[in-house]
This record gives sequence, structure tokens and C-alpha cells, in this order.
Amino acid sequence: KALVIDFGSQVTQLIARRVREAGVYCEIAPFQKAEEAFAETRPKAVILSGGPCSVTDEGSPRAPQAIFDAGIPVLAICYGEQLLAEQLGGKVEAGHHREFGRADLEVVTPSPLFEGVWAVGGRHQVWMSHGDRVTRLPDGFAIIGKSENAPFAAIADEKRRFYGVQFHLEVAHTPDGARLISNFLHKIAGLKSDWTMAAFRSEAARAIQKQVGLGRSAERPSQAAGYGRVLCGLSGGVDSAVAAVLIHEAIGDALTCVFVDHGLLRQGEAEEVVSLFRDHNNIPLRHVQAQELFLTALEGVEDPEVKRKTIGRLFIEVFEAEAKKIAEDGRGAPQFLAQGTLYPDVIESVSFTGGPSVTIKSHHNVGGLPERMNMALVEPLRELFKDEVRALGRELGLPEAFVGRHPFPGPGLAIRCPGAVTREKLEILRKADAVYLDEIRKAGLYDEIWQAFAALLPVRSVGVMGDGRSYDYVLALRAVTSTDGMTADFYPFDMSFLGRAATRIVNEVKGVNRVVYDVTSKPPGTIEWE
Ligand code: XMP
Repeated sequence: KALVIDFGSQVTQLIARRVREAGVYCEIAPFQKAEEAFAETRPKAVILSGGPCSVTDEGSPRAPQAIFDAGIPVLAICYGEQLLAEQLGGKVEAGHHREFGRADLEVVTPSPLFEGVWAVGGRHQVWMSHGDRVTRLPDGFAIIGKSENAPFAAIADEKRRFYGVQFHLEVAHTPDGARLISNFLHKIAGLKSDWTMAAFRSEAARAIQKQVGLGRSAERPSQAAGYGRVLCGLSGGVDSAVAAVLIHEAIGDALTCVFVDHGLLRQGEAEEVVSLFRDHNNIPLRHVQAQELFLTALEGVEDPEVKRKTIGRLFIEVFEAEAKKIAEDGRGAPQFLAQGTLYPDVIESVSFTGGPSVTIKSHHNVGGLPERMNMALVEPLRELFKDEVRALGRELGLPEAFVGRHPFPGPGLAIRCPGAVTREKLEILRKADAVYLDEIRKAGLYDEIWQAFAALLPVRSVGVMGDGRSYDYVLALRAVTSTDGMTADFYPFDMSFLGRAATRIVNEVKGVNRVVYDVTSKPPGTIEWE
């Protein structure tokens, strides 16, 4: 496998993605943990990422020397290149020419890095984003590519198989970047394309077993089958479902799933989840009917943050109560909490000031629970992107209709019902949302859209239906495209589609007499209304 050392670049995850697209398994380690990660993973190739620091600053991060002494190939990108040059005896200067955006790279020396992609004399588009630059090469290095502002744009020590590039070859703006990465992995490091979802599945299952294994079971004799018990909250979404099926495969009934029906689910959702887990996969599932608890607590609450916090607090209370019930069978209380956290949810802001090494913001439904209950987190999907999680779900045999589902937020319909939530409004929203999604499916658009839903606005408008006057709610339709939910564009439906959906909703859903379409992108809007 390959190891990517993260020096805090915004695009480190793209490096990992390119490596995996080339069929090579890789892991990412933040630079503070590089030493341990390197010793533990014993990679066949290392990639050093870019980063926001300057190697000329005192105390800026460095790569462990062990990496350069191990006789394995190293590819160093941007900050990585400067650090490679500096650590091996070259020189880096704080840049007089900051260079951002597209640049032309001229190939000056043939190299296995360019083999079959770029020939000497060719000029190719690359993406630059740097302030500093290398000004003297370490011994053994030669320039293999240059650009107007970066005479050392690509450097190599072919003997030691060390490569440095000033440009970002992991981004789409360097069109040939993926092929260069593939050359580095296959031609230079000799790695095979054998990373598949099937391989990830068994690798991840082993890692889960290792994490939750109890070692000498005599110490905790009451536990199931030598594994610590894991509690997994299911949200009805793809991520937690895939995590649960994977963990179940690894540790069997040491896993218990908890699915909380907070009364804020979409139509038919609870039934789907229960049947998928309990009936099809035979996974221990506690289906908690907590509608009264949540809806009573939300009565009269209008402020979105108060809604979210109320729901979060109740989730924790329900989980705590469930954990106690799980322990009643005498096999001990769960010590681990499983979550379907994905790579984009993991915002790793690298700390340069010696504080906690990595600050992680996880977007999850049961925030606060692990600390409160002293549970360790099991997050087997932390390294994956959404589309990879979907592929893993298919690999695990989850039905296509489930795997392709749109994301759904933990606070559910509460944040799609601006203002105070009532049972009546939720009922209207559920029906309208179901009609909207039915139309989207019929039009064959479901898979093109990242997320589509309806929001019931706290506004009534006057209408005319038959011979009578109506005074009912306004429903807003939302549909966006996105790759990770961080940014999004509204989906450009045909007007005829919108007209059809609006007609059906007003005809079929009592309580709605007007439908509007939300054409705000993110930013400045968010995907959800609250
Ligand atoms: P926003 O509204 O912030 O949403 O643009 C981005 C993505 O995150 C989902 N979302 C949540 N998911 N718990 C979740 O599990 C939450 O509290 C939550 N809030 C928003 C949202 O549906 C979208 O996909």
C-alpha cells in the first residue's frame, strides 16, 4: 500500500482518491503522526502533500527522515517538494513570485514519471499554488520539468526514486495528473492495481476486529465472542447502513444497531430500515419508538439551533437508555459507538501550535454521546468518499435502491419545517415530499440529483380550488447537485417537470395550495433550510 502524509493541504483527500483510482490502497496520516503511521503501515511508496506553511518558517513541519532512508520511492507535491529539497540538502526561498492557477510546464528530461504521458519538449497545463520555491537542488537531483515562474517545477533523483513537483498533480486542473500518479505507483514503485472494494471490505473488517478485539478475554469474560460490544446508530441513510453491515460482518452479534424513530422521518422510512436490517441481514436491531418524546419536546420551538440541540440531546438520552437495555442480557455494556463518518465529514485542521494534534469536526447524529458514555468511536468509512461508500454497499449486497439513496439529515423533517414543528405539518410535509420524489423517480432524475426534498413553509397563501377559496401552506421544493455536500448547485429542472410536480402536490396533498422552487446554490444558501 501507499501512504500519504498530510501537511494540511486542502486537497490531500484528492491525492488519496487518485491513488485509489489507480487501484492502489492508501492511507492518509497527518504529519504529526507520520512517524508511527510509517512504521505501522510499512508502505511501498510515500506521497508528501502540499500544505499552508513555508519551509523557511521556524518550526514548520518536516517529514520523518526514516521515509528517505527506507529505500522506497517518494513523490513530493508543492510544500512536500520544498520540504524534500530542504531536508535533503537543497535550498528553498520564500517566493518573490507567488504563482496561483494554470501554468505551462515544459518537460526537459525524460523520466519514468512522465513515461507514456509527456515527452521531452512538450508543454502541458498544470495547476500551481505556491509562494515559495526551490532554488538549489539537493545532490543527486535533476530538473525534469520547468515553468516560467518555477525553474524547479519538477525534479527527480531517479536513482533513489525521489520525485518533487511544484504543481498539484492531484487536481483536475492538471489534466494529466492522474496518469503521472499512476506512473509513480505502478512504473516507479512497482505497485499492482489490486485495490478493490472486495479488498477494502476484508481489510476494513480486519481493522474493526483489531480495534474492538479484547485481547485476553479472561479480563472481560462477559463479552460476546472476544469482541467489545458496539452500538451503531442507524439514521436511515446509506453511510450508517453500510458501516453497520460491515461491522456486523466483522464481529457478528457483538454489534447492536439502534434505529430511533423520532417522528421526523420521511414516509415509509422506518419500515424500509427495519426490513432491510432485521429481515434481510439478520442484524440485531432495536427500533425505538420515540415519536412522543421528540415531538413533545419540540412543541413551540421555532429557533433552528434550539431545534437541533433539542433533537441532539434527546438522541443522546435515547441512546443512553438503549445502551443500558442492551447490557441487561448480561453480556456487558457497549464500549464502542459506530458511526458512518465519511472522509468529507472529517475536517482535519492540522494544528501547528502544538495543541491537540488534529481537530476533527464530525457531522454526525449523536454528537456528545461518546464522551458522555466513555465510548470509543468505530468509524470504518472515515477514509472513503460517498461514491466509494456506495460501491462498498453494493459489494456488501445492499439493495441498489438503498445504496443510491439521497442523504438525509439527523434532525430529519424538523429542519425542513421552518418555524414550530407540529404533527399536522409533518404529516403534510411527508405526503408532499413523497409525491415530489415519486415524480423525480418517474422522470429518471433521482440518481442525477444529490439531494431532493420538500420544505413546508410557515406561510399560508390564498388560492382557489374548484369554486372555493383556499388558505393553505406554501411548499418549497429543493433539489441540488453536489459531490460532497460542501458546495451545491440548484438542479435545473425543466419547467414542465416543476409544473407537473406542483399540480400533483396541490391536488393530492391536503393543506398545500402553492408550490415554489428554491433556486439558491450553496454558498450562499445551505442545502437544508435550517
Ligand atoms: P447544509 O444544510 O449544511 O447540509 O448545506 C449539508 C449536508 O449535510 C446534511 N445535514 C446533516 N446531516 N446531521 C446529518 O447527519 C445533521 O445535523 C445535518 N444537517 C445537515 C444535509 O442534508 C446535506 O446533505
